[in-house]
Amino acid sequence: MSEFRPYFTNDGSVGLYSEEYDDIYHSASGALTEAYEKFVYPVNWDNLLLHDNIRILDICYGIGYNTKSFLNFIFENQKKLLKRKKNLKKNLSNKTNIETIYTNNTLNINNGNYIDKLYTDNIFNKISVTAIDKNEILFGISPFIKTGVKNFKNDSDVIYKHNINKYLRNNKRQISKIENFINFLILSKISQNSAIFSANSFIDEILSDNRYAAYLNGKIKAVYKYLYRNIPSCPKLVNLHNIYYKYLSFCYKNKLKRYRIQDFIFNIKIEDARVTVKNDNNLYNLIFLDAFTPQKCPCLWSYDFFKELYRILDSDGMLLTYSSSATIRAAMSEAGFFIGNIYNKRLNKFQGTIAVKNKSLIKYQLSEFDFGLLKTRAGIFYRDQNLNAQNEAIIKLHEEEVKYSDRISSSQYIKSRSKNEI
Ligand SMILES: C[S@@+](CC[C@H](N)C(=O)[O-])C[C@H]1O[C@@H](n2cnc3c(N)ncnc32)[C@H](O)[C@@H]1O
Repeated sequence: MSEFRPYFTNDGSVGLYSEEYDDIYHSASGALTEAYEKFVYPVNWDNLLLHDNIRILDICYGIGYNTKSFLNFIFENQKKLLKRKKNLKKNLSNKTNIETIYTNNTLNINNGNYIDKLYTDNIFNKISVTAIDKNEILFGISPFIKTGVKNFKNDSDVIYKHNINKYLRNNKRQISKIENFINFLILSKISQNSAIFSANSFIDEILSDNRYAAYLNGKIKAVYKYLYRNIPSCPKLVNLHNIYYKYLSFCYKNKLKRYRIQDFIFNIKIEDARVTVKNDNNLYNLIFLDAFTPQKCPCLWSYDFFKELYRILDSDGMLLTYSSSATIRAAMSEAGFFIGNIYNKRLNKFQGTIAVKNKSLIKYQLSEFDFGLLKTRAGIFYRDQNLNAQNEAIIKLHEEEVKYSDRISSSQYIKSRSKNEI
Protein backbone atom coordinates (compact mmCIF):
# COMPACT_ATOMS: atom_id res chain seq x y z
CA MET A 1 0.00 0.00 0.00
CA SER A 2 1.19 3.48 -0.81
CA GLU A 3 2.12 5.84 1.93
CA PHE A 4 0.39 9.09 2.85
CA ARG A 5 1.95 10.85 5.82
CA PRO A 6 0.65 14.35 6.26
CA TYR A 7 1.46 16.86 8.94
CA PHE A 8 1.07 20.61 9.32
CA THR A 9 4.05 22.72 8.40
CA ASN A 10 4.61 25.94 10.28
CA ASP A 11 2.59 28.17 7.93
CA GLY A 12 -0.58 26.09 8.25
CA SER A 13 -0.18 24.23 4.97
CA VAL A 14 0.09 20.47 4.82
CA GLY A 15 3.43 18.80 4.23
CA LEU A 16 4.22 15.16 3.58
CA TYR A 17 6.86 12.82 4.82
CA SER A 18 8.22 10.03 2.63
CA GLU A 19 9.30 6.82 4.26
CA GLU A 20 10.70 5.53 0.97
CA TYR A 21 13.18 8.41 0.75
CA ASP A 22 13.24 9.11 4.50
CA ASP A 23 12.82 12.70 3.51
CA ILE A 24 10.20 15.41 3.78
CA TYR A 25 8.48 16.62 0.63
CA HIS A 26 8.19 20.18 1.83
CA SER A 27 10.02 22.54 4.12
CA ALA A 28 8.71 22.13 7.67
CA SER A 29 8.86 25.91 8.05
CA GLY A 30 6.03 26.15 5.51
CA ALA A 31 5.15 24.13 2.42
CA LEU A 32 3.28 26.97 0.78
CA THR A 33 5.80 29.60 1.85
CA GLU A 34 8.55 27.50 0.31
CA ALA A 35 6.71 27.18 -3.00
CA TYR A 36 6.25 30.94 -3.24
CA GLU A 37 9.79 31.74 -2.20
CA LYS A 38 11.55 29.22 -4.40
CA PHE A 39 9.36 29.02 -7.48
CA VAL A 40 7.14 32.09 -7.75
CA TYR A 41 8.84 35.22 -6.40
CA PRO A 42 12.18 34.54 -8.12
CA VAL A 43 10.54 34.37 -11.57
CA ASN A 44 11.66 37.24 -13.76
CA TRP A 45 8.14 38.62 -14.11
CA ASP A 46 9.06 41.51 -16.37
CA ASN A 47 10.32 39.02 -18.88
CA LEU A 48 7.54 36.47 -18.43
CA LEU A 49 4.79 39.08 -18.77
CA LEU A 50 5.96 39.91 -22.27
CA HIS A 51 4.68 36.50 -23.32
CA ASP A 52 1.01 35.91 -24.04
CA ASN A 53 1.19 32.14 -23.97
CA ILE A 54 3.37 30.42 -21.46
CA ARG A 55 4.49 26.87 -20.89
CA ILE A 56 5.54 25.52 -17.51
CA LEU A 57 7.18 22.22 -16.70
CA ASP A 58 6.59 21.16 -13.09
CA ILE A 59 9.05 18.33 -12.42
CA CYS A 60 8.08 16.43 -9.28
CA TYR A 61 4.58 17.81 -9.00
CA GLY A 62 3.87 15.90 -5.76
CA ILE A 63 0.79 17.51 -4.25
CA GLY A 64 1.17 20.44 -6.58
CA TYR A 65 2.28 23.36 -4.43
CA ASN A 66 4.47 24.88 -7.11
CA THR A 67 1.89 24.90 -9.89
CA LYS A 68 -0.89 25.92 -7.51
CA SER A 69 1.17 28.73 -5.97
CA PHE A 70 2.06 30.04 -9.42
CA LEU A 71 -1.60 30.12 -10.46
CA ASN A 72 -2.69 31.52 -7.13
CA PHE A 73 -0.12 34.29 -7.40
CA ILE A 74 -1.21 35.46 -10.81
CA PHE A 75 -4.87 35.28 -9.93
CA GLU A 76 -4.33 37.10 -6.62
CA ASN A 77 -2.28 39.78 -8.32
CA GLN A 78 -4.33 40.01 -11.47
CA LYS A 79 -4.71 43.80 -11.47
CA LYS A 80 -1.13 44.60 -10.59
CA LEU A 81 0.30 42.18 -13.10
CA LEU A 82 -1.97 43.38 -15.87
CA LYS A 83 -0.91 46.94 -15.24
CA ARG A 84 2.71 45.91 -15.28
CA LYS A 85 2.18 43.98 -18.49
CA LYS A 86 0.57 47.01 -20.12
CA ASN A 87 3.46 49.24 -19.14
CA LEU A 88 6.04 46.75 -20.28
CA LYS A 89 4.40 46.32 -23.65
CA LYS A 90 3.93 50.05 -23.96
CA ASN A 91 7.60 50.70 -23.24
CA LEU A 92 8.56 48.04 -25.69
CA SER A 93 6.37 49.44 -28.43
CA ASN A 94 7.54 53.00 -27.70
CA LYS A 95 11.04 51.77 -28.13
CA THR A 96 10.26 50.19 -31.45
CA ASN A 97 8.09 53.15 -32.52
CA ILE A 98 4.94 51.16 -33.00
CA GLU A 99 1.71 52.94 -32.24
CA THR A 100 -0.37 50.91 -29.86
CA ILE A 101 -3.73 51.17 -28.25
CA TYR A 102 -4.64 49.07 -25.28
CA THR A 103 -8.15 47.96 -24.58
CA ASN A 104 -9.77 45.14 -22.70
CA ASN A 105 -10.99 42.31 -24.85
CA THR A 106 -11.99 44.51 -27.77
CA LEU A 107 -10.51 44.97 -31.14
CA ASN A 108 -8.54 48.15 -31.40
CA ILE A 109 -9.48 50.60 -34.06
CA ASN A 110 -7.02 53.25 -35.01
CA ASN A 111 -8.08 55.71 -37.72
CA GLY A 112 -10.51 53.18 -39.05
CA ASN A 113 -7.89 50.43 -39.32
CA TYR A 114 -7.74 47.36 -37.15
CA ILE A 115 -4.47 46.89 -35.41
CA ASP A 116 -3.44 43.84 -33.54
CA LYS A 117 -5.16 43.13 -30.27
CA LEU A 118 -2.26 43.27 -27.87
CA TYR A 119 -3.75 41.54 -24.91
CA THR A 120 -6.98 40.46 -23.35
CA ASP A 121 -7.88 40.84 -19.70
CA ASN A 122 -6.15 37.58 -19.08
CA ILE A 123 -2.58 38.05 -17.96
CA PHE A 124 -1.64 35.18 -20.18
CA ASN A 125 -3.92 33.99 -22.93
CA LYS A 126 -2.83 30.45 -22.43
CA ILE A 127 -1.07 28.78 -19.55
CA SER A 128 0.07 25.29 -20.27
CA VAL A 129 1.44 23.23 -17.41
CA THR A 130 3.05 19.84 -17.83
CA ALA A 131 3.21 18.23 -14.42
CA ILE A 132 5.34 15.13 -13.86
CA ASP A 133 5.43 12.81 -10.90
CA LYS A 134 5.80 9.09 -10.74
CA ASN A 135 3.33 8.88 -7.88
CA GLU A 136 -0.22 9.09 -9.21
CA ILE A 137 -1.81 9.09 -5.78
CA LEU A 138 -0.23 12.44 -5.05
CA PHE A 139 -1.76 13.85 -8.23
CA GLY A 140 -5.16 12.63 -7.08
CA ILE A 141 -4.78 14.04 -3.58
CA SER A 142 -3.35 17.36 -4.71
CA PRO A 143 -6.62 19.34 -5.08
CA PHE A 144 -7.69 18.39 -1.55
CA ILE A 145 -4.65 19.58 0.38
CA LYS A 146 -5.40 22.22 3.00
CA THR A 147 -3.55 25.52 3.28
CA GLY A 148 -3.96 28.55 5.52
CA VAL A 149 -5.03 26.54 8.57
CA LYS A 150 -4.91 28.60 11.74
CA ASN A 151 -4.40 26.97 15.12
CA PHE A 152 -3.42 23.64 13.66
CA LYS A 153 -2.20 20.87 15.87
CA ASN A 154 -0.09 17.93 14.80
CA ASP A 155 -1.81 14.90 16.21
CA SER A 156 0.37 13.19 18.77
CA ASP A 157 -1.39 9.87 18.10
CA VAL A 158 0.02 9.72 14.64
CA ILE A 159 2.41 6.84 14.97
CA TYR A 160 4.96 8.14 12.55
CA LYS A 161 5.20 11.55 14.14
CA HIS A 162 8.59 10.91 15.68
CA ASN A 163 9.97 10.82 12.17
CA ILE A 164 9.02 14.37 11.40
CA ASN A 165 9.18 15.96 14.79
CA LYS A 166 12.80 16.81 14.28
CA TYR A 167 11.88 19.02 11.35
CA LEU A 168 9.16 21.00 13.05
CA ARG A 169 9.83 24.18 14.91
CA ASN A 170 7.51 26.21 17.04
CA ASN A 171 7.51 29.39 15.03
CA LYS A 172 4.09 29.17 13.46
CA ARG A 173 3.44 31.64 10.71
CA GLN A 174 0.43 32.49 8.67
CA ILE A 175 0.64 33.40 5.05
CA SER A 176 -1.93 33.35 2.31
CA LYS A 177 -3.62 30.19 1.19
CA ILE A 178 -4.42 28.58 -2.11
CA GLU A 179 -7.82 29.83 -3.25
CA ASN A 180 -10.41 27.11 -3.49
CA PHE A 181 -11.10 27.83 -7.10
CA ILE A 182 -7.50 26.90 -7.95
CA ASN A 183 -8.03 23.57 -6.18
CA PHE A 184 -11.24 23.17 -8.08
CA LEU A 185 -9.51 23.97 -11.32
CA ILE A 186 -6.89 21.30 -10.67
CA LEU A 187 -9.59 18.82 -9.64
CA SER A 188 -11.51 19.42 -12.83
CA LYS A 189 -8.38 19.06 -14.98
CA ILE A 190 -7.32 15.87 -13.26
CA SER A 191 -10.82 14.43 -13.67
CA GLN A 192 -10.81 15.25 -17.37
CA ASN A 193 -7.31 14.24 -18.23
CA SER A 194 -6.76 10.90 -16.64
CA ALA A 195 -8.18 7.87 -15.01
CA ILE A 196 -6.44 8.66 -11.74
CA PHE A 197 -9.56 8.63 -9.60
CA SER A 198 -11.29 5.63 -11.07
CA ALA A 199 -8.09 3.59 -11.05
CA ASN A 200 -7.21 4.30 -7.50
CA SER A 201 -9.14 3.07 -4.54
CA PHE A 202 -6.33 4.28 -2.27
CA ILE A 203 -7.30 7.88 -3.05
CA ASP A 204 -10.87 7.11 -1.96
CA GLU A 205 -9.55 5.48 1.17
CA ILE A 206 -7.53 8.57 2.04
CA LEU A 207 -10.45 10.88 1.35
CA SER A 208 -12.79 8.96 3.58
CA ASP A 209 -10.34 8.16 6.38
CA ASN A 210 -11.10 10.24 9.49
CA ARG A 211 -7.44 10.32 10.47
CA TYR A 212 -6.76 12.51 7.45
CA ALA A 213 -9.84 14.73 7.66
CA ALA A 214 -7.96 17.61 9.30
CA TYR A 215 -5.53 17.79 6.39
CA LEU A 216 -8.02 17.71 3.55
CA ASN A 217 -10.23 20.42 2.16
CA GLY A 218 -13.86 19.63 2.99
CA LYS A 219 -15.38 21.72 0.19
CA ILE A 220 -13.33 20.12 -2.54
CA LYS A 221 -13.99 16.74 -1.00
CA ALA A 222 -17.72 17.49 -1.12
CA VAL A 223 -17.52 18.26 -4.84
CA TYR A 224 -15.60 15.07 -5.43
CA LYS A 225 -18.06 12.98 -3.41
CA TYR A 226 -20.96 14.57 -5.19
CA LEU A 227 -19.44 13.69 -8.53
CA TYR A 228 -18.47 10.15 -7.73
CA ARG A 229 -21.21 9.06 -5.40
CA ASN A 230 -24.23 10.69 -7.03
CA ILE A 231 -23.38 10.19 -10.64
CA PRO A 232 -21.45 6.94 -10.67
CA SER A 233 -22.33 6.09 -14.26
CA CYS A 234 -20.42 8.92 -15.89
CA PRO A 235 -18.31 10.61 -13.23
CA LYS A 236 -15.81 12.21 -15.53
CA LEU A 237 -18.12 13.32 -18.26
CA VAL A 238 -20.49 15.45 -16.23
CA ASN A 239 -20.31 19.15 -16.50
CA LEU A 240 -18.14 19.79 -13.53
CA HIS A 241 -18.58 23.52 -13.67
CA ASN A 242 -22.32 23.37 -13.37
CA ILE A 243 -22.12 21.06 -10.43
CA TYR A 244 -19.54 23.23 -8.81
CA TYR A 245 -21.71 26.31 -9.20
CA LYS A 246 -24.68 24.51 -7.77
CA TYR A 247 -22.82 22.87 -4.97
CA LEU A 248 -20.54 25.58 -3.75
CA SER A 249 -21.15 29.23 -3.17
CA PHE A 250 -21.19 31.70 -5.99
CA CYS A 251 -18.14 33.53 -4.84
CA TYR A 252 -15.80 31.97 -7.39
CA LYS A 253 -18.10 32.32 -10.31
CA ASN A 254 -16.81 35.67 -11.44
CA LYS A 255 -13.24 34.66 -10.96
CA LEU A 256 -13.72 31.56 -13.04
CA LYS A 257 -15.26 33.62 -15.78
CA ARG A 258 -12.65 36.29 -15.61
CA TYR A 259 -9.73 33.97 -15.84
CA ARG A 260 -11.10 31.89 -18.66
CA ILE A 261 -10.03 28.61 -17.19
CA GLN A 262 -10.47 26.86 -20.49
CA ASP A 263 -7.16 28.47 -21.38
CA PHE A 264 -5.40 26.58 -18.62
CA ILE A 265 -3.97 23.38 -20.06
CA PHE A 266 -2.81 20.76 -17.63
CA ASN A 267 -0.86 17.76 -18.93
CA ILE A 268 -0.35 15.01 -16.42
CA LYS A 269 2.60 12.69 -16.78
CA ILE A 270 2.76 9.82 -14.34
CA GLU A 271 6.18 8.42 -15.04
CA ASP A 272 9.87 8.86 -14.44
CA ALA A 273 10.61 12.49 -15.28
CA ARG A 274 13.59 11.40 -17.35
CA VAL A 275 11.29 9.57 -19.74
CA THR A 276 8.95 12.54 -20.12
CA VAL A 277 11.76 15.00 -20.67
CA LYS A 278 13.62 12.78 -23.13
CA ASN A 279 10.52 12.55 -25.30
CA ASP A 280 9.50 16.18 -25.02
CA ASN A 281 10.22 18.66 -27.79
CA ASN A 282 8.31 21.64 -26.41
CA LEU A 283 10.08 24.75 -25.24
CA TYR A 284 9.30 25.91 -21.72
CA ASN A 285 9.29 29.39 -20.24
CA LEU A 286 9.59 28.02 -16.73
CA ILE A 287 10.88 24.75 -15.38
CA PHE A 288 10.35 23.95 -11.69
CA LEU A 289 12.69 21.24 -10.45
CA ASP A 290 11.62 20.00 -7.03
CA ALA A 291 13.06 16.52 -6.63
CA PHE A 292 14.19 15.13 -3.31
CA THR A 293 17.78 16.03 -2.39
CA PRO A 294 20.55 15.23 -4.91
CA GLN A 295 21.92 12.60 -2.50
CA LYS A 296 18.55 10.82 -2.33
CA CYS A 297 17.36 11.26 -5.90
CA PRO A 298 20.47 11.88 -8.05
CA CYS A 299 18.75 10.72 -11.25
CA LEU A 300 16.99 14.09 -11.47
CA TRP A 301 20.11 16.12 -10.75
CA SER A 302 22.63 14.57 -13.14
CA TYR A 303 24.59 16.42 -15.80
CA ASP A 304 22.83 14.28 -18.41
CA PHE A 305 19.38 15.26 -17.15
CA PHE A 306 20.34 18.96 -17.08
CA LYS A 307 21.51 18.66 -20.68
CA GLU A 308 18.00 17.54 -21.58
CA LEU A 309 16.47 20.38 -19.56
CA TYR A 310 18.74 22.81 -21.39
CA ARG A 311 17.41 21.49 -24.69
CA ILE A 312 13.77 22.16 -23.74
CA LEU A 313 14.20 25.53 -22.02
CA ASP A 314 13.19 28.51 -24.12
CA SER A 315 15.91 31.03 -24.96
CA ASP A 316 14.54 33.43 -22.33
CA GLY A 317 13.21 30.73 -20.04
CA MET A 318 14.17 30.00 -16.44
CA LEU A 319 14.81 26.83 -14.53
CA LEU A 320 14.22 27.22 -10.80
CA THR A 321 15.20 24.89 -8.02
CA TYR A 322 15.52 24.98 -4.25
CA SER A 323 18.95 23.35 -4.25
CA SER A 324 22.12 25.39 -4.16
CA SER A 325 24.57 22.52 -3.87
CA ALA A 326 27.83 22.80 -5.76
CA THR A 327 27.21 19.39 -7.33
CA ILE A 328 24.05 20.45 -9.10
CA ARG A 329 25.36 23.89 -9.99
CA ALA A 330 28.43 22.37 -11.60
CA ALA A 331 26.20 19.97 -13.56
CA MET A 332 23.99 22.84 -14.72
CA SER A 333 26.96 24.92 -15.73
CA GLU A 334 28.53 22.04 -17.65
CA ALA A 335 25.21 21.47 -19.43
CA GLY A 336 25.40 25.04 -20.78
CA PHE A 337 23.32 27.08 -18.33
CA PHE A 338 24.23 30.39 -16.76
CA ILE A 339 23.47 30.08 -13.08
CA GLY A 340 22.45 32.52 -10.40
CA ASN A 341 21.26 32.69 -6.81
CA ILE A 342 17.71 32.90 -5.55
CA TYR A 343 17.40 35.64 -2.95
CA ASN A 344 14.99 35.03 -0.09
CA LYS A 345 13.81 38.44 1.04
CA ARG A 346 12.14 37.20 4.22
CA LEU A 347 15.26 35.44 5.46
CA ASN A 348 17.63 37.89 3.79
CA LYS A 349 19.76 35.15 2.34
CA PHE A 350 20.42 33.24 -0.84
CA GLN A 351 18.60 29.94 -1.15
CA GLY A 352 18.27 27.94 -4.33
CA THR A 353 19.45 28.28 -7.91
CA ILE A 354 18.23 29.81 -11.14
CA ALA A 355 19.51 28.43 -14.43
CA VAL A 356 19.04 30.31 -17.71
CA LYS A 357 20.27 30.55 -21.28
CA ASN A 358 20.08 34.34 -21.32
CA LYS A 359 22.51 35.67 -18.73
CA SER A 360 20.78 39.04 -18.43
CA LEU A 361 17.86 37.35 -16.66
CA ILE A 362 20.01 36.64 -13.63
CA LYS A 363 19.49 39.16 -10.87
CA TYR A 364 21.78 37.71 -8.20
CA GLN A 365 25.08 36.48 -9.62
CA LEU A 366 27.12 33.79 -7.94
CA SER A 367 30.18 35.11 -6.15
CA GLU A 368 33.72 34.27 -7.11
CA PHE A 369 33.77 32.05 -4.03
CA ASP A 370 30.70 30.13 -5.24
CA PHE A 371 32.29 29.56 -8.64
CA GLY A 372 35.49 28.38 -6.95
CA LEU A 373 33.48 25.81 -4.99
CA LEU A 374 32.31 24.23 -8.24
CA LYS A 375 35.90 23.31 -9.01
CA THR A 376 36.38 21.37 -5.77
CA ARG A 377 35.33 17.78 -5.16
CA ALA A 378 31.93 19.12 -4.12
CA GLY A 379 31.47 20.17 -7.75
CA ILE A 380 31.83 16.65 -9.15
CA PHE A 381 28.45 15.97 -10.64
CA TYR A 382 26.27 12.88 -11.02
CA ARG A 383 26.30 11.01 -14.32
CA ASP A 384 23.43 9.08 -15.87
CA GLN A 385 24.49 8.75 -19.48
CA ASN A 386 21.48 6.80 -20.77
CA LEU A 387 19.04 8.51 -18.43
CA ASN A 388 17.85 5.22 -17.04
CA ALA A 389 20.22 4.25 -14.23
CA GLN A 390 18.98 3.44 -10.73
CA ASN A 391 19.72 6.03 -8.03
CA GLU A 392 21.97 3.54 -6.20
CA ALA A 393 24.09 2.98 -9.32
CA ILE A 394 24.40 6.72 -9.93
CA ILE A 395 25.50 7.26 -6.34
CA LYS A 396 28.08 4.48 -6.55
CA LEU A 397 29.60 5.86 -9.73
CA HIS A 398 29.73 9.31 -8.18
CA GLU A 399 31.39 8.05 -4.99
CA GLU A 400 34.08 6.34 -7.06
CA GLU A 401 34.76 9.49 -9.03
CA VAL A 402 34.99 11.59 -5.89
CA LYS A 403 37.26 9.05 -4.24
CA TYR A 404 39.81 9.02 -7.05
CA SER A 405 39.60 12.72 -7.87
CA ASP A 406 42.69 14.88 -7.45
CA ARG A 407 40.59 18.00 -6.82
CA ILE A 408 40.79 19.66 -3.40
CA SER A 409 37.91 19.02 -1.01
CA SER A 410 35.38 21.75 -0.35
CA SER A 411 36.52 22.03 3.27
CA GLN A 412 40.14 22.56 2.16
CA TYR A 413 38.90 25.17 -0.27
CA ILE A 414 36.84 26.95 2.39
CA LYS A 415 39.78 26.93 4.79
CA SER A 416 42.05 28.34 2.11
CA ARG A 417 39.84 31.38 1.65
CA SER A 418 39.72 34.16 4.20
CA LYS A 419 36.48 34.69 6.12
CA ASN A 420 36.01 38.05 4.49
CA GLU A 421 36.13 36.60 1.03
CA ILE A 422 33.42 34.11 1.95
C1 LIG B 1 10.13 16.87 -2.79
S1 LIG B 1 8.77 16.04 -3.49
C2 LIG B 1 8.05 17.28 -4.50
C3 LIG B 1 7.07 18.17 -3.81
C4 LIG B 1 6.10 18.81 -4.74
N1 LIG B 1 6.69 19.79 -5.61
C5 LIG B 1 4.89 19.34 -4.04
O1 LIG B 1 4.52 20.50 -4.23
O2 LIG B 1 4.26 18.59 -3.30
C6 LIG B 1 9.57 15.01 -4.68
C7 LIG B 1 8.63 14.29 -5.63
O3 LIG B 1 9.46 13.65 -6.62
C8 LIG B 1 8.80 12.51 -7.09
N2 LIG B 1 9.83 11.73 -7.79
C9 LIG B 1 10.95 11.17 -7.27
N3 LIG B 1 11.67 10.61 -8.25
C10 LIG B 1 11.02 10.84 -9.43
C11 LIG B 1 11.29 10.52 -10.79
N4 LIG B 1 12.38 9.86 -11.15
N5 LIG B 1 10.41 10.95 -11.72
C12 LIG B 1 9.28 11.62 -11.38
N6 LIG B 1 8.99 11.94 -10.09
C13 LIG B 1 9.83 11.56 -9.13
C14 LIG B 1 8.22 11.91 -5.83
O4 LIG B 1 7.12 11.06 -6.12
C15 LIG B 1 7.81 13.16 -5.04
O5 LIG B 1 6.46 13.45 -5.23
